[in-house]
Amino acid sequence: MRTLLYNLKEKYKNKLKNSKVFNEGYQEFLKTGKTSQEAYNSLINLYCSTNGKFNEKIHKKIISNNLPKKINQPIKGILGELKNEEFDYYNHELNKFGYVNFNKKISQELANSIYNYALNTEALTAPLYDKKIIYNPTNPISEIYRFTQKDLVNNIDIQQLIMDPVLINIARNYLQCEPIFDFPAMWWTNTFLKEASAEAAQLYHFDMDRIKWLKIFVYLNDVTNENGPHQLIKGSHLPGAKPKELLNRGYARIPDKDINKYYKPEDVVVVLGQAGSVFAEDTKCWHKGTPLKSGHRLVLEFEYTSSLFGANYPKFEIENFSEEFKQFCTQNPVYATHFIFKN
Ligand SMILES: [Fe+2]
Repeated sequence: MRTLLYNLKEKYKNKLKNSKVFNEGYQEFLKTGKTSQEAYNSLINLYCSTNGKFNEKIHKKIISNNLPKKINQPIKGILGELKNEEFDYYNHELNKFGYVNFNKKISQELANSIYNYALNTEALTAPLYDKKIIYNPTNPISEIYRFTQKDLVNNIDIQQLIMDPVLINIARNYLQCEPIFDFPAMWWTNTFLKEASAEAAQLYHFDMDRIKWLKIFVYLNDVTNENGPHQLIKGSHLPGAKPKELLNRGYARIPDKDINKYYKPEDVVVVLGQAGSVFAEDTKCWHKGTPLKSGHRLVLEFEYTSSLFGANYPKFEIENFSEEFKQFCTQNPVYATHFIFKN
């Protein structure tokens, strides 16, 4: 009994301490645009100790002075023309499951163009990510080849996707505010390692770069059970949905056997899809890439957020761009806050 009381008291004291560090750090962030490591750690601690409720509470405060644009007509974009009801359906699925598959693809031409870019552009390899090399599918030297964010934002095809009004509206609806484009990521994974790689995020984890965010993924080659489909536990993004025993481990990678203790096989979603397939996910849910049995996988990912509090990512210098992209960024300064144009 005494130990229980002592533990509760300690927990309460920690929560108070983390809330104080967060509040001070958030005020500092509003002034400088930078998040201190302590403030960022306090966000992760508060996410874990409140089982996600803290993030929702703060997010609501953040968006109260950033209302989303009201759009009442269909929007035409990379996935075709979508009506309001379709956006509502996707948003409902996202809120309920933390995941929605659009069952739509970007054009074959665009998918091929990005795929070819990835075969001909240097990328960083694990574990040090210190030198760039071109991925050779027949002779990989690392389980992951990660493109730099700067290279990605300077690619015209990727700029086209960044500007896509349908994808932006999906983020707008989910975040209930005008979103900020946070970053792009793109990486190859392959069969270089014979076991699950923590580097390639092949163990269950949740992301926590921000207070609230949405990720949109595009498969750039066909993804089957052979070549490492993305996998998630549906509904585990919701506040209160994660088992305390797993959250007590903090911001950690969790083995399958531990996840399987708490979730039923039908809670596991394995995302298969042809080249060009697009899906969205709140990666607060437990998720991972499955280790590959054969072949390789190329995936592109965008993150949209309501606030840049959290990880301090540098701004991206844009040297190569379409006029359309520059104009778009000028007209949407909040969305494009991370981009700096060289000329
Ligand atoms: Fe992740």
